[in-house]
Amino acid sequence: MAQLSECIYLSRSLIAPHSVDLLDIERAAQRNNPQHGISGCLYVDATFFLQLLEGPEPALKGMLAALRRDRRHIGMLILRERPLSQRRFADRAMMIFDGTASGVRSGIQPSPLDLHEAEKGDATRLLQLLDGFEPTGPRH
Ligand SMILES: Cc1cc2nc3c(=O)[nH]c(=O)nc-3n(C[C@H](O)[C@H](O)[C@H](O)COP(=O)(O)O)c2cc1C
Repeated sequence: MAQLSECIYLSRSLIAPHSVDLLDIERAAQRNNPQHGISGCLYVDATFFLQLLEGPEPALKGMLAALRRDRRHIGMLILRERPLSQRRFADRAMMIFDGTASGVRSGIQPSPLDLHEAEKGDATRLLQLLDGFEPTGPRH
């Protein structure tokens, strides 16, 4: 069986947070991720995407290649890529966290400062926030 891996990246969004474009991304994730054994979460606000992907390494590599070609965001910055022993979003194709002021703010909600620091090269607090999130679903 392929090694289970995790990848976390930050990028700049080129789409509106509550838009058909975002709905298309959610739909693609629901359609494709389970098929490839990928689970994870996506934090979205008016400026950034922060995505955590977990799954078999070859599947993650393929997904990252598609993401790099995607023109709905730019400046993909990989914050972490490493082997994983247990998934944190086991039962979720892609759990969405809405970081816009008008939305209900729950789950993973990084501060603008944490996001900008990560973009400048210090992702410590952002990664701590993700690591502190309670795992969902069965532990495997
Ligand atoms: C920030 C961001 C996150 C995305 N996350 C996923 C994802 O988790 N799964 C997925 O299949 N596509 C995701 N996409 C879309 C892919 O880049 C690509 O458009 C999609 O996988 C193509 O799917 P299709 O071949 O079924 O049309 C994301 C795009 C963006 C901009």
